[in-house]
Amino acid sequence: MARKYKVIQWATGVVGSAALRGVVRHPKLELVGVKVYSDDKAGQDAGDIVGIDKTGVIATQDVEEIMALDADCVLYCPMPWSLGEICRFLEAGIHVITPCPYWFPFIQNPEVAASIKKACKQGKVNFHASGCNPGGIAERFPLTFSGWCNRIDRITMTECGDCTTYSSAGVMRNLMNLGATPEQAERNPVKVMLAKSWNEPIDMIAEGLGTEVVSYEAEHDYILANQDIPTAVGIIEKDTIALNHYRHIGKTRAGTEIVQEQIWYVDDIRQNKLQKKMDIPRESGWRIKIEGDVNLNIDVDFPPELTQDERVAQGLSTTGFHLVNAVPLVCEASDPGLKTYLDLPMITGCVGTHATER
Ligand SMILES: NC(=O)c1ccc[n+]([C@@H]2O[C@H](COP(=O)([O-])OP(=O)(O)OC[C@H]3O[C@@H](n4cnc5c(N)ncnc54)[C@H](OP(=O)(O)O)[C@@H]3O)[C@@H](O)[C@H]2O)c1
Repeated sequence: MARKYKVIQWATGVVGSAALRGVVRHPKLELVGVKVYSDDKAGQDAGDIVGIDKTGVIATQDVEEIMALDADCVLYCPMPWSLGEICRFLEAGIHVITPCPYWFPFIQNPEVAASIKKACKQGKVNFHASGCNPGGIAERFPLTFSGWCNRIDRITMTECGDCTTYSSAGVMRNLMNLGATPEQAERNPVKVMLAKSWNEPIDMIAEGLGTEVVSYEAEHDYILANQDIPTAVGIIEKDTIALNHYRHIGKTRAGTEIVQEQIWYVDDIRQNKLQKKMDIPRESGWRIKIEGDVNLNIDVDFPPELTQDERVAQGLSTTGFHLVNAVPLVCEASDPGLKTYLDLPMITGCVGTHATER
């Protein structure tokens, strides 16, 4: 049997835990290390942390211990992330796959792209940013469907998410601005980073279509809570943001418009806890809409029998599993560097042995 790829799981939050379970189940992968931040997870078997059988791998907070491991690849899932840490792994000869930026940084973050490429060259390894959105809906899947089309006037990706049960305070409060006042949201330094994070997939689509973006626009609208709203990250207080509507738009030289739209909120579809209502397409899920000589609406949804908890958990698992499934391809990709979906072969699932869920 071919040798297994040795994988480090870095951080075991919502996404990192799904990735860890995926690594243990994947027949071509072997878990060799787990880095955690929380005191209560340090010293525990990785299996105990994510509710599967024991793995024999003990989680550690010690970065040097992790760096000393003989590993092929790290699934890097912290919040916040660090370019320095990413480059340190790459320079040490460990491939990096992450749900954090940078999906296509060449235009939005050229200095970052240069640092990553340099580190990849030094370590003779690859870097790849993946995920669900960005990392799937935002660019990989629209690019796939673009192969069915000829003239494309507009591509719109819409993510619609009732986030009430998403338990990452970092993502909910810092990235999504849920629970912030409008003034705090306006001053949030993440704003620029967020725009770049949506412009990166816009650039990737443009590149994939053989054109380039000539202008970018960003629109932000929000609705405040009309009462305190309990969520997995605590109370979203009355008069703070409980629904965010972002649109990032890139217009290309070829005339195609590329739109990334997110509607993130904490209420159910009836929006009784919001100060006004928005026309939300549906409770949770994604739509890729292509307009041109072929008109497509590609809806990615969850079966109606799933609870909202299950929808959020499965939506976030797709992010973790996308990283896991990319490991063999990223480890094998030739010519060390920053690999986007435009460089890699098709990433597929791999059905193999199963760790027993408790
Ligand atoms: N591309 C996509 O589709 C997508 C989707 C969702 C999330 N993401 C990104 O994926 C990352 C993980 O998201 P998540 O939902 O798993 O978040 P999360 O549940 O908040 O997990 C983040 C983890 O980071 C670790 N951490 C704690 N303090 C830290 C610090 N000071 N510096 C760095 N890391 C620290 C913790 O690990 P331990 O618990 O192990 O101690 C924590 O569980 C985030 O950066 C998020 O933006 C991307």
